[in-house]
Amino acid sequence: MKKFYITTPLYYVNDKPHLGHSYTTIAADVLARYYRARSGDAFLLTGTDEHGSKIEEASLKHGSTPVEWADSIVGNFKGLWKRLNISYDDFIRTTEPRHIKKVQEVFAKLLESGDIYKGRYSGWYCVSCEAFCADAQVIDGKCPDCARQVSLVEEESYFFKLSKYQDKIIEHYEKNPDFLKPSWRAAEMKNFVKSGLKDLSVSRTQVKWGIPVPGDEKHTIYVWFDALLNYLSASEGRDIWPCDIHFVGKEIFKFHTVIWPAILMALGVTLPKTVFAHGWWTVNGEKMSKSKGNFVDPNVFIDKYGCDAYRYFVLRQIPFGQDGDFSESCLLERYNSDLANNLGNLVSRTLSMMSKYGLKNLRASSGSGTPIGAAVSAFAPKFYLAMENAEFGAALSHIWEIINITNKTIDSEKPWALAKSDPKKLEQVMSDILSALVLIADNLRFFMPETSDRIKKILECGEVSEPLFPRLQ
Ligand code: MSP
Repeated sequence: MKKFYITTPLYYVNDKPHLGHSYTTIAADVLARYYRARSGDAFLLTGTDEHGSKIEEASLKHGSTPVEWADSIVGNFKGLWKRLNISYDDFIRTTEPRHIKKVQEVFAKLLESGDIYKGRYSGWYCVSCEAFCADAQVIDGKCPDCARQVSLVEEESYFFKLSKYQDKIIEHYEKNPDFLKPSWRAAEMKNFVKSGLKDLSVSRTQVKWGIPVPGDEKHTIYVWFDALLNYLSASEGRDIWPCDIHFVGKEIFKFHTVIWPAILMALGVTLPKTVFAHGWWTVNGEKMSKSKGNFVDPNVFIDKYGCDAYRYFVLRQIPFGQDGDFSESCLLERYNSDLANNLGNLVSRTLSMMSKYGLKNLRASSGSGTPIGAAVSAFAPKFYLAMENAEFGAALSHIWEIINITNKTIDSEKPWALAKSDPKKLEQVMSDILSALVLIADNLRFFMPETSDRIKKILECGEVSEPLFPRLQ
């Protein structure tokens, strides 16, 4: 059976990973864990985008070669993914021979079919976005997306016939409503394509750090043309294509929903099912930027709050798809209220009651007539739907509904009173509570794998040695 194929963008290695990179990767990991459990198997691909002027400039600034620089930064990405428990199946670097071979093959094929042709490019280029900018959009020499200085490029270049695919792309959007997600982002892309697509310059003679054009080595291949193809190079020899979902940030949605499908159409390859664009994090209300020096290093927060709390926070705090703000005070508040109070207390008070009332061997089963039973049986369809729509915040809130109902049930049923008045009822209520804990651990494991394991262990041995989430100041 074909594996459910999920990708993250390939991150530039100009600098160390930050909150934004971790966000996409955590989301992709959560979905991969979910599909592995639900539908047999999933394949999670991540990696790094290592060619182009942006990386070359960064390496020069640090007095190293692009290769040395990329090698050192890749270690930071891999190290962070390890700390965040990212269960990737492959990590691809665009400098690997398997990828270079694929890119050159594709280029040669499209040159032969006439989808790539030689011409001259003259126009603006933004190194930070690695993107060409239309004349009308450049005001005062600034990039319309990142506001950095753009440069004028005038050179011989190969072009990809993007214009040829304009109508086909629109048709694909119309026939496949799941292609552009969330659906409220679709209109912008449709309008963009309808406004007219120009052929795309896909080679540079002035950029040395890139994959050479086969047969015309004074040109290197445009870094986006190179990078997008990673999703195909990594699928070589594996039964995973077409990709089921590409997760991307909103700023690179266009590359994935216009240029990428056109390349695949030109190759005659099936298109991915969904491209999902999430929103952007600001930090204490401001855009993360080098000049402000406010990049959030996930390591700092993992050290302080733990991997699972960090994973939880980024997916719970803002609805996946929308923009939101990161601040340590919100993280601390969620940690103390959702994790230490609601979840942590539920586990510890349940276990201490079980041991106090001699119920260590009690089995989980819902049906004593408390509100837990109804909540547990209504849970699965809501949760699955949220997961399959990549509504991670909503999925988590369904788990927290169970946590809250269970805590409330303990307060209203008062097991400490039942222990004296009605031992039979006590057993029923406690086994209801246990069934909620099992459901919580089973479904939390996609988001918080370590916590889920810890809850399961606690339930098996019947003891809590230390709080799951000690309260923090
Ligand atoms: N190399 C390209 C992608 C090529 S994919 C074939 C690239 N790399 S990047 O290093 O700039 O990473 C971009 C991704 O990082 C975004 O798509 C998003 O996933 C994530 N984020 C970067 N900053 C972000 C925020 N402030 N907030 C949320 N995520 C953002 O673009």
